[in-house]
Amino acid sequence: MKSNANKKPIFVTGGAGFIGSNFILDWIDKTGGVVVNLDKLTYAGNLKNLESLLSDSRHIFTRGDILDSSLVQKLLIKHRPMAVVHFAAESHVDRSILGPEDFITTNIIGTFRMLEATRAYWESLEMDKKGKFRFLHVSTDEVYGSLEAQDEPFTESTPYAPNSPYAASKAASDHLVRTYYSTYGLPTITTNCSNNYGPYQFPEKLIPLVIVNAIKGESLPIYGDGLNVRDWLYVADHCSAIRTVLARGRVGETYNIGGNSEKNNLEVVHTVCAVLDELHPDSPVIPHAKLIKFVKDRSGHDRRYAIDASKVKRDLGWVPQQSFADGIRETVKWYLDHLDWVEQVQSGEYRKWIDINYGGRQLI
Ligand code: NAD
Ligand code: TYD
Repeated sequence: MKSNANKKPIFVTGGAGFIGSNFILDWIDKTGGVVVNLDKLTYAGNLKNLESLLSDSRHIFTRGDILDSSLVQKLLIKHRPMAVVHFAAESHVDRSILGPEDFITTNIIGTFRMLEATRAYWESLEMDKKGKFRFLHVSTDEVYGSLEAQDEPFTESTPYAPNSPYAASKAASDHLVRTYYSTYGLPTITTNCSNNYGPYQFPEKLIPLVIVNAIKGESLPIYGDGLNVRDWLYVADHCSAIRTVLARGRVGETYNIGGNSEKNNLEVVHTVCAVLDELHPDSPVIPHAKLIKFVKDRSGHDRRYAIDASKVKRDLGWVPQQSFADGIRETVKWYLDHLDWVEQVQSGEYRKWIDINYGGRQLI
């Protein structure tokens, strides 16, 4: 176990979600530092992801809402973090089409409240600590809109052109973060990352949905013609990018993070199916690709995302480590080894986990 002496904690929002929980596990493993985790535990928040930290004093969990300014302020004053890493959001495009309001509330107003609470805390810090403090806002490439096949990938200066309520809410939050640097001097940095995949991703997003459905012999829905392109990044690489930006990124800047791995959805699904054919030959339907089913397209479906991540490489030396082929293999293996996790997520059992394991405990 690494020592956490003399290390100030970091404050993470949304740390029970997919990327947040991967980030916390990675941060504690790599740095030994303390993480204060504020999460509302919506359907997407699953404390079971952090089960290995249940009796680890380096993970301090509070169930709460980022909109609750007095709670956020209390936590900041109590724990005195050196950075806020802001993941908490509603994150699924399809849900934003069905019901945009939660996206506006959490992603825009929630980020605004986080910025206000953080500003008050930051202003109370001594001068040398003020300069070292960071507010890192975790955002998406979807703010840039859709590319045509021949277009150059998104750079940090690509104009914003969001096409879903999710993307619009993240775009608004990015603009708010920008103004807290330009107007108040709060040391903010924003990362705009491409599609992540890996362990602990809720099986509503393409890759985990396809893995889980294929294992059960259920159909694999492909929207439209299946030729929409995403730039896929293994979640561990996203975590290392955030650590790098936190350590060496310039305040007031934005950094695009991507896997340099453009694939269309059909390629992704066929890759998952081929790995499953090899690793799970006992599935009800073999080959798994027989389960592919073309369904009605998503409305406003962005055709292509691609990230130019040359700035973070040039300025901070970050490059992704995991190839798509290896990352998918690791991911499929992880889901096959964690069918109990899948079962609990699908049955809703995971939502009881906090009461069983944290019931009666003082959470703040
Ligand atoms: P997720 O949906 O898996 O997790 C979101 C977490 O935020 C959950 O634990 C949820 O309980 C929590 N949360 C939601 N509303 C909250 C609130 N009001 N107060 C406190 N906690 C709340 O999302 P994810 O895929 O892990 O994404 C994390 C962040 O990264 C998001 O900001 C997202 O926009 C961004 N991002 C995601 C991807 C991706 O491919 N998943 C890519 C780029 C950027
Ligand atoms: P998704 O994982 O929802 O991420 P995002 O919309 O943020 O990129 O979707 C990835 C791609 O897969 C996107 O083009 C939509 C498509 N898709 C399907 O074809 N079928 C599905 O069931 C899902 C969830 C997504």
